[in-house]
Order: sequence, then structure tokens, then C-alpha cells
Amino acid sequence: MIIKSSTKDYRVQIEDSFSFFEPLLQTDNTLFVVDKKLYGLYEKELFGKIPEDKLYLIEALEENKTIETALGVCEKMTEIPGKRNARLVSFGGGIIQDITGFAANILYRGIHWTFVPTTLLAACDSCIGGKTSLNYKSFKNLLGTFYPPEKIYICPKFFFTLSQKDFESGLGEVVKFNIMSGEAGLERIESQMAGLLERRPEVVEEFLRTSLAFKKDFIEEDEFDRGVRIHLNFAHTFGHAFETMSKYEIPHGTAVAMGMIVADRVSLHRGCMDETICTRAEQLLKKIIHVNLDGIDWNMDEVVKAIRKDKKQIDDALTCVLLEEDMKLKVVHDLKREEIETAVREMLQLLRTK
Ligand SMILES: NC(=O)c1ccc[n+]([C@@H]2O[C@H](COP(=O)([O-])OP(=O)(O)OC[C@H]3O[C@@H](n4cnc5c(N)ncnc54)[C@H](O)[C@@H]3O)[C@@H](O)[C@H]2O)c1
Ligand SMILES: [Zn+2]
Repeated sequence: MIIKSSTKDYRVQIEDSFSFFEPLLQTDNTLFVVDKKLYGLYEKELFGKIPEDKLYLIEALEENKTIETALGVCEKMTEIPGKRNARLVSFGGGIIQDITGFAANILYRGIHWTFVPTTLLAACDSCIGGKTSLNYKSFKNLLGTFYPPEKIYICPKFFFTLSQKDFESGLGEVVKFNIMSGEAGLERIESQMAGLLERRPEVVEEFLRTSLAFKKDFIEEDEFDRGVRIHLNFAHTFGHAFETMSKYEIPHGTAVAMGMIVADRVSLHRGCMDETICTRAEQLLKKIIHVNLDGIDWNMDEVVKAIRKDKKQIDDALTCVLLEEDMKLKVVHDLKREEIETAVREMLQLLRTK
């Protein structure tokens, strides 16, 4: 798959095996940045072959997604000859992607960058679209640029070692893409959910391809997120709030899955969504949401405050993306506090009943 971009068109390649790794090792002027946990899991099979002076490990923690870590990568890159011809190859999930994309962008005003997403979330969603984001002090994703990798290799074999928590987080975004594509999408994922949860390779690969194809249309039409791309933020206004309120205990995709329940309930109460569709989506989402809700302060003032902090809020009126008649997406700017309260209470009740 080729993604069109104003900086450069880039290719996403899906690989059945790790055979793409050997040629990367032969590339000159390359620094490999690898998620530390991933390194441990695949040292024998892959990463042990990287010469020590070409290797940089980063622990995939939100507190490491900072400008200091990105500058550490830049500094290490100064040891690599070739300057603007230097290449960064990174392996990991969204955290490693964000740090290395930012570093690749600012070093010498842009160097070659190859990314190998190893979480389901990074592979199905974040690896395309070109966003890089860093946390600053208590602000999540405050700093950022647009800088897509030149090449993306996705090998679904990596997903087998993901924890259930991280795999389900990735499924949150996959379900989102399918629900966004209307009743046919909902039906498709309902019928394949068992295979997805078992991580059956052919099922995972089918949804990987359809998720990327779905996102591709939005990011090509609106590369810099000034228009139609906001639709991809469906459920995110609520999801981001739940992520922050849980102090990132709830991973991104899972928070988005919870956000979808809230968004659908708002639509339902506005009379814009069919109750059967809403229930079907909820039954599906319940299968991938396993979180401890009790560690969070669900005081509604806190919920609304967290929603207001979302980057997509432009003024006092609360903005979010909802599904409306016939499961069509719509940006609304008149979200009311009472609507949020009702929908969040109902989401909590639904998730607490087994
Ligand atoms: N740039 C974007 O467009 C974009 C979009 C969405 C999310 N994000 C960011 O991505 C981050 C979340 O990323 P994520 O969910 O992909 O994962 P992550 O990078 O947070 O990693 C999650 C966990 O999985 C581990 N891991 C990675 N690959 C593994 C594998 N193959 N086997 C076993 N363990 C593995 C990591 O060590 C870590 O413990 C957040 O910081 C979020 O803000 C960025
Ligand atoms: Zn997301």
C-alpha cells in the first residue's frame, strides 16, 4: 500500500516472516532504536544481530515520551556517519514511533526513517498519518510535528507476544474503524471477533489491511488534520478524558472503546441512533474492555474538566464526533454536560454488569 503525502509518498509493506530484517541490517549509516521490552523478547531471533554501536534501547513508558529522550536519539545519531543520509530504523509501538519520528524530523531537518510497528495499535492505526507527539510536563502529546516514515514494515508475527491488555487496546481502534464504516462494518467485525480475540493470523491480517485502507482515505484527503480527518477522532474526546483520568492505566485504544460507548449513548438519546445498532456495538465493545473502573474518580466535574482539556475543543462549546442517522459521522459543537453525565453513567453501569 502506498500512502500519498506532501513530504513524500510512503509504502506500507505487510510481511509474513522476519525476512525483511536482514536487508535492513546491511543498510549503511543506520541506527536501530528498539523498544527495550521487545528487544528482550526477540533478542535471539532478531535484535542480537545488531552491532552494539548501532543500537539504542528505549523503555516504552509515557514518562519517556519526552523531548529529552528524542534529543538522546539525536545525540546518538551524531555518531552515525552520513548526516542527512543517515537512517533511523525503529521497532516498537506508538511510544517508540512518536519519539523516533520526532527525532528523525528535527535532526538535520529530516533524515531517512523506517518504522516497524510491533503493537496492533501502531500497525493498524498510528503508523500511517505522519503524526509525531511528545508529552511535556503534565501535558500529553503537547509537542508534535507531521513526519511520516519513508517505509513501514508490518509483521503480524509480533502481535503474538503482546499482552492481552495491549492487544485489546489495538482492537479498540480496529472496532472503531469498522463501526465508522457503517452497518456492514459492524456486521463484519461481529462475525470475526472470536477469530480476532484468538489472534488467528488470517483474521488479524484482514482487519489490519481494512483498517489501514479505511484510515488512508482520510489522511490523504486531509494530511494536516484541518478538515475531514477530524472524523477519525470519533470517540476520542471521551477516550482521551478516560486515559488522563486513569493516569494512563487505561491504554489508548481501550479508552477509545469506552469513548465509543459514551458517544453512541449520546447519539441514542438524541434520537439519532437506532437502539439495536447501539446494543450490538456495546456487546462487541464489552468483549475488549477489561479495566479496573474503581481506581478512578468518576465525579462528573472531573469528567467534564478532562474533556475540556482535549485538543479538539476550540471554545466554550463542547465539540465531539458522533454517529448520526444511518451511522453517518457528524461533528457536533453543542455537546451538553447533562448528555455527558447520562452517557458516562450508562457506560459505567454497562461495564460493571457481567
Ligand atoms: N502518532 C500517532 O498518530 C499516535 C496515534 C495513536 C497513539 N499514539 C501514541 O501511542 C502510544 C501508545 O502506543 P501503543 O499502544 O502502540 O504501545 P506502546 O508503545 O505504549 O507499547 C505498549 C506496550 O507493549 C510493549 N510491546 C511493544 N511491542 C510488543 C510486542 N510485539 N510484544 C510484546 N510487547 C510489546 C511495549 O514495551 C509496552 O509495554 C501513546 O503514547 C499514544 O499517545 C500515537
Ligand atoms: Zn486513537
